[in-house]
This record gives sequence, C-alpha cells and structure tokens, in this order.
Amino acid sequence: MTVLVTGGAGYIGAHVVRLLVERGTRVVVVDDVSTGARDRVSGAPLEALDLTDVRAADRLVDIAERHDVDAIIHLAAKKQVGESMLRPTWYYRQNVGGLANVLDAVERAGIERFVFSSSAAVYGAPDRAVVDETVDTAPINPYGETKLIGEWMLRDVTRVCGLRAVSLRYFNVAGAGWPELGDPKALNLVTIVLDRMERGERPIVFGRDFDTPDGTGIRDYVHVLDLAEAHLAALDHLRHDGPGFDVFNVGTGASASVLEVIGQIELASGRRLQAEFVERREGDPAALIADPTRINAELGWRGRRNLPEVVASAWQAHRYRIDRDRAAGARA
Ligand SMILES: NC(=O)c1ccc[n+]([C@@H]2O[C@H](COP(=O)([O-])OP(=O)(O)OC[C@H]3O[C@@H](n4cnc5c(N)ncnc54)[C@H](O)[C@@H]3O)[C@@H](O)[C@H]2O)c1
Repeated sequence: MTVLVTGGAGYIGAHVVRLLVERGTRVVVVDDVSTGARDRVSGAPLEALDLTDVRAADRLVDIAERHDVDAIIHLAAKKQVGESMLRPTWYYRQNVGGLANVLDAVERAGIERFVFSSSAAVYGAPDRAVVDETVDTAPINPYGETKLIGEWMLRDVTRVCGLRAVSLRYFNVAGAGWPELGDPKALNLVTIVLDRMERGERPIVFGRDFDTPDGTGIRDYVHVLDLAEAHLAALDHLRHDGPGFDVFNVGTGASASVLEVIGQIELASGRRLQAEFVERREGDPAALIADPTRINAELGWRGRRNLPEVVASAWQAHRYRIDRDRAAGARA
C-alpha cells in the first residue's frame, strides 16, 4: 500500500509525509515545487509534475501503477487569498483544473481513498463565531470558491465510482513539527509578525473595533503537527467507511485574538512588540472558530497542542531558518 501525497514538498504536506514515513507507510510525493522545496521531502520519492499539465492525468495513472498507490492526500494548490482576487482564472486553473486531473486519474486507476485539503475559507464571513459543518458555505473570494468547488467535485465523483473521500476544512494553521519544516512564507499572522520583527518593523493589526473582548479579530489556531495527524486519522477512517463523501472541520475549538497571538510571540522571543493599528480589511469576520465535535467523534482526532506551543514551535523554526541562511551566506 502506498499513499500518494500531492503538494508533499509544501509547508503542511512535508509534515504529512514525515508522519506517514515515520509510521512505516510507503509514500510517493507529486509536486511541481512551485511554492514547495525538494529538500523538505525525505524518506519518499518525489515525482516532479505540474498537476495542471495536459498530460498530468496520464502521468498520475502511470505513477499510481508503478508505486501501487491505493490512497491520495491532495494538498497541492495555490493558497493566497489576495492573489486569487487578482488572478481568478489562474486560481481556478490551478486548484480546480489540477483537481480535475487528479480525479480523472483516481477513476482510471481505481484508487479508493481520498483526503482533500479544504479550508475554513469555504464559510466566508458567517453570521456566527463558532461554525460546525452544517453552517452554510458562502466563500467571499476565488480562493475559497476553488476549495468549495473542489468539495463538490469530490462529492460528485464518489457518487459514480467506489471512491471514499473526506474533505478537511483547516482553520488557522501555524507552528512547526520540526524546526526545518517551519512555514517558509510570511502569509499567516504568526509568520508575518516574525518576519516583520526580523526587519525591525512593528506588527500591523487590521481593526481594533471588532465586537471581541480586546477589539481585535479572533481565530482558531491549529498546530500543523496536529493537522498532519488529522490526515492520518482520516486515512484510517476511510479504510473502514463505505463509499461516499464527508467534510470535517480541523480546528481546536479554542480561540485567540490577534493581540493574544502577538503577546505569545513576545513571550517566545523575549522581545517587546508595539502593534500598529490600521483599518479593518474588507470581509474579515470578527471571529471564526471551529466547532470540532464531528472530527472529535468520528475520526477520534483532537488538536492537542495549545497556542503557546504553536507559537514557540514557529519561533524555533524561524530561528532555525535565520541561522541556516546566515551560515549559507557566510559560506557563499
Ligand atoms: N497554510 C494554511 O494556513 C492553509 C489553510 C487552509 C487550507 N490550506 C490548504 O492546504 C494545502 C497546503 O497548503 P500549504 O500551506 O502547505 O501550502 P504550500 O504552498 O506550502 O504547499 C503547496 C504545495 O503544492 C505544490 N503545488 C502547487 N501547485 C501545484 C501544481 N499545479 N502541481 C503540482 N504541485 C503544486 C507546491 O509546490 C507546494 O509544495 C493547500 O491546498 C492549501 O490551500 C492551507
């Protein structure tokens, strides 16, 4: 049995791959390293492939046969909300077109288990803070729309073949399971604040007049290692479940404000940070928190690591990268 992991050279994918390899599962990674990096993958072969290529489905069928693949974890996608608003067609081609090729290969190769990386972005800006999976989906940007369309595609494919699939709707992912696998991009609150700190810049806080205890936005931060474990729990679940499609929130149910996260970064780094407050961003909900009841009950998964652990691990990964880059600079 081999698990094919698309996007396994990325931030989250590299954690999933390492956990699977540690568990003794055979893995093959498919990635075009457009936003990932080869050196994030160890213990598994990497097949370089752009999933939007016209021959991608044929290549995937060939890879599946050569590696005896019986399950797919599909993480490969583009994930920047702002970029998706500027380049919607490209986002649809990447995230929807790429998935169409993967599902074409799934049907042809007779693969039976599938785990899909979805996002809390499918909920948009709901009228309540805590959301379970029955809350209406209403994405407010092309990125979130590509994730919702991906869920629909999966649901439809499970109706016509023996595929069993789950979609995992990630909330705010941060931290690092191993220092060398930290998030290399400054695209979420924790890495953005760390990146600005390194350049001697103050953290920027969008809005201080939300209806929350300290006026800043509240989110549900899930440790990337807990998230990776959710993928393994999903694969196990699919071994026993009948054909069909299901969605699960992956969050802790706990919440933290922007100022609380900044406070944790101060504690982890031992540095003082003076936030700069600016206007809210359009569409930003005051609070978005997962109700994880379904994943707790059905997959037996729960987020075990708290915010201080998330931030401390992100800080260690940040220091690791800076030291590594300095050492590389000194050698050059
Ligand atoms: N990071 C988050 O906070 C978050 C939150 C919700 C959902 N997600 C989803 O999780 C998944 C992984 O996110 P990440 O944070 O690890 O991002 P990432 O950019 O680090 O990883 C994505 C990986 O996919 C690969 N890839 C992208 N387009 C490809 C293509 N056309 N063909 C082949 N490979 C391709 C990239 O090279 C990269 O290795 C994505 O689907 C993302 O939408 C992430």
